Amino acid sequence: MSVRVTGSPRPVGLVTGASRGIGLTIARSLAAAGYDLTISARNAAGLADVAADLSTAGAVIRPHRADMAVEQDVTDLAAAHVEAYDRLDVLVMSAGIGYAAPLDTAPLHRFDRQFAVNVRAPYVLVQALLPVMRTTARDHPARGVKIIALSSITGVYAEPALAAYGATKAALASLCRSINAEVSGAGVSATAICPGYVDTDMTAWMREQLDPTSMIATADIAELVMSVTRLSAHAVVPEIVVTRPGEQLHRA
Ligand SMILES: NC(=O)c1ccc[n+]([C@@H]2O[C@H](COP(=O)([O-])OP(=O)(O)OC[C@H]3O[C@@H](n4cnc5c(N)ncnc54)[C@H](OP(=O)(O)O)[C@@H]3O)[C@@H](O)[C@H]2O)c1
Repeated sequence: MSVRVTGSPRPVGLVTGASRGIGLTIARSLAAAGYDLTISARNAAGLADVAADLSTAGAVIRPHRADMAVEQDVTDLAAAHVEAYDRLDVLVMSAGIGYAAPLDTAPLHRFDRQFAVNVRAPYVLVQALLPVMRTTARDHPARGVKIIALSSITGVYAEPALAAYGATKAALASLCRSINAEVSGAGVSATAICPGYVDTDMTAWMREQLDPTSMIATADIAELVMSVTRLSAHAVVPEIVVTRPGEQLHRA
């Protein structure tokens, strides 16, 4: 019996938070490796510039503006991706926010916003995209489908002043483990990448205390993502912790 292969003939990715930082470097690596992409963030103008830039690698890059704090935006993003490609080989969830504040004074509205963007949105996005990911994994069983979530070392080891952020990142890693428990047998597996400080806009506030050259490079994170995309469907990597060198290995 032959199985009808659906969707785009080329491998396809969806990258959230692709306008800057870690997500941008991952999107660039995927485009260079021959993936067509949907890229997403809130800043439409920034996204359009990135799409134009990455298209020069010969890839089809579709920018889609979405605020991950808005559920309708998240489901619209998933629908637009499926409408455009009907295939999804790699889902990279890099959009994320973090606020530093001590437990005594951290405002609850920031706790809620971090959970909305860092946990609720990935949950909604994965739910909305599971049908197309199952179909893609069925059509391409050797490689299957990879979900990569940008968690954080603060979700693994506690970091002072990052209690809410760390909790969101622990929850995101837990979501990856649940995905593996439920659907890795169908070829859809998830990896939480948990880095310490990476040199991006997000860590600009740290630059006076920590030389950016001693932070992890976005290229290192993209290299890990590309390695995971090349694994067969038989190898599931639930979590990758990336620390900076030195004496404070398990600090951000
Ligand atoms: N940098 C680090 O040290 C570090 C370490 C561990 C984990 N991480 C995680 O890695 C991921 C990427 O971090 P980064 O350092 O690349 O951050 P970044 O430079 O601040 O970039 C964040 C990206 O997410 C998008 N974004 C932010 N809020 C959004 C929202 N509400 N809806 C949609 N998109 C949104 C931003 O675009 P717009 O502003 O245009 O929306 C941007 O593209 C995050 O999940 C972060 O928690 C970062």
